[in-house]
Amino acid sequence: MATALKKTKSVWVCSHCGNEYSKWLGRCPSCGEWNSMVEQEVVTGKAPVAGMVVGPERKPLPLKDVATTQEDRVSLGSAEVDRLLGGGIVKGSLVLMGGEPGIGKSTLSLQLPLHTPSLKTLYVTGEESVKQVKMRADRLGGDASGCLILSETDMSSILKEAQETAPDLMIVDSVQTMYCQHIDSTAGSVSQIKEVAAQLLRFAKSTGIPVILIGHITKEGTIAGPKILEHIVDVVLQFEGENRGAYRVLRSIKNRFGSTAELAVFEMTGQGLREVANPSEMLIPMHEEGLSGTAISAMLDGNRPFLFEVQALVSSAVYGTAQRSATGFDVRRLNMLLAVLERRAGFKLGQKDVFLNMAGGLRITDPACDLAVIVAVLSSNFDYAIPSDICFAGEVGLSGEIRPVSQAARRAVEAARVGFKRIFVSSYTHLDQKPQGIEVVKVADIPALVRALFK
Ligand code: TYD
Ligand code: MG
Repeated sequence: MATALKKTKSVWVCSHCGNEYSKWLGRCPSCGEWNSMVEQEVVTGKAPVAGMVVGPERKPLPLKDVATTQEDRVSLGSAEVDRLLGGGIVKGSLVLMGGEPGIGKSTLSLQLPLHTPSLKTLYVTGEESVKQVKMRADRLGGDASGCLILSETDMSSILKEAQETAPDLMIVDSVQTMYCQHIDSTAGSVSQIKEVAAQLLRFAKSTGIPVILIGHITKEGTIAGPKILEHIVDVVLQFEGENRGAYRVLRSIKNRFGSTAELAVFEMTGQGLREVANPSEMLIPMHEEGLSGTAISAMLDGNRPFLFEVQALVSSAVYGTAQRSATGFDVRRLNMLLAVLERRAGFKLGQKDVFLNMAGGLRITDPACDLAVIVAVLSSNFDYAIPSDICFAGEVGLSGEIRPVSQAARRAVEAARVGFKRIFVSSYTHLDQKPQGIEVVKVADIPALVRALFK
C-alpha cells in the first residue's frame, strides 16, 4: 500500500524567504525576519517531488551542438506588460504576478484576455465566483470571446481541464487558494504553495502553454507568498503602490527571458487599469505655483527616468516627542536625512513633526530622491516655495555631502523634455554630454544647496 510508505515529519519554514529548518527559531538566520517561522508537515515517500523540470533532452549534449532558437513569444495585448516581459510572454513560461491584496492583480490579469480575444485563454479563479468575474469583465469592457472561465481550486482538476482545453494562455488566481490533494496541509500553506507552483511549472514546460500565476503578498510578508516562489518561477512581476492612490507600478524583479530593469505605471480607473505611457506627466503637480513643501525629483526606476513630486510638511510638535511619518519612503532614511540636516547644517528640526509623502502613492527606493526630500523639508520649514521649473537628483551622505547618482544625464534629458529649466545634482556628477535646454546646477553639500536655493 502506497500510504504505508509515507512518513510525515515536521519542519519549520520561514514564511518570508522560504528556507527550511529542523527546529523553530525566533529569527530566520537567512533573511533576518523575526517571528516568521511556521510549522509544516512534510510527507516523504511516494509524493511527487517539487523541483525543476528537465526538458526532452535527458542525455548530456555538447553545448556547441545545442540548437539556439529565439524564444517563442505571445503578445498579451498590453504594450506595457509585453515590454516588462521582454516582448510578450514566452511560451511554456511560468510568470508570477505578486502584490498586496486589492492592488489590481485580478483586474490586470482579466484585462489581458479581454484585450486579446484572438488568444484562447483559460482563467482559473479560486477567489471569486464565475458570476463575479463576469461582472468585472463587463465593467472592464473589451471582447470576452476568447476567454474561458473555470472556478476551481483542486490542482488535479485544473490541470485535467487545462489539458483538454489546450488554451494559448492560462491564468491562475491565486496560488494561495489552490491545493494539491496529496499534501495534507491546508491551501495557502508553504508546502501547498510550493507544490502548486511546481505543478504549474511542469504543466507549462511540458505543454508549452504560458501560465500567469497570481500570488498575494502582505506588507509584513507574514503569509506564505511570492517570496517563497521566486526561485521556482521564470518571471516575477510585482505590483507596488498604495491601494488608496490611483497609481500602480508593476515591476519586473526576476526575468529569465529579459531585463529586470523594467517597470510600467498604471492608473486605476473605473474601467480597470489604464497604462500610463508617460509617467512624468502624471506625477508632477497639478496645483498652482507657489506652494511651499514640495520639490520635484528626477528619478530613475529600472531603466526609466521620470519626474515626480515629493511633499513634506514640517510643523511644531504638539506632543512631547516629534512625529515622523513617511508614505512611500523609508522612514529610517527620512530620520537619517533629518539628522544630517540637524548636525551638518544646523537646522533645528528636533522639535518639529515631519510628514513626508511621495506623489501618486509611489514607493521610492532610488537614493537620488534624497535631495528632493531635503529640499521639500526645508521648503516647508521656511515656508518658501521652490520655483516650479527646478528639479533635483542627488544622494545625501552622512556628512551632508551631495553624492552623484547613476545616469544623471538621462535624468536631465527627461527633465528637459517635460519642461524643467534647471536640475540640481552633485558637484561630482560626470556628464558625458551636456543636456540640451536645461541648466545643470552642481552643488557640493547641504550648505551650498541652501545658499543656492534659499538666498
Ligand atoms: P483587484 O484586481 O481585485 O485586486 P487584487 O486581485 O490584487 O486583490 O482590485 C483592486 C481594486 O481595484 C478593488 O478595490 C476595486 C478596484 N477597481 C477599480 O477601481 N476599478 C475597476 O475597474 C476594477 C475592476 C477594480
Ligand atoms: Mg484578486
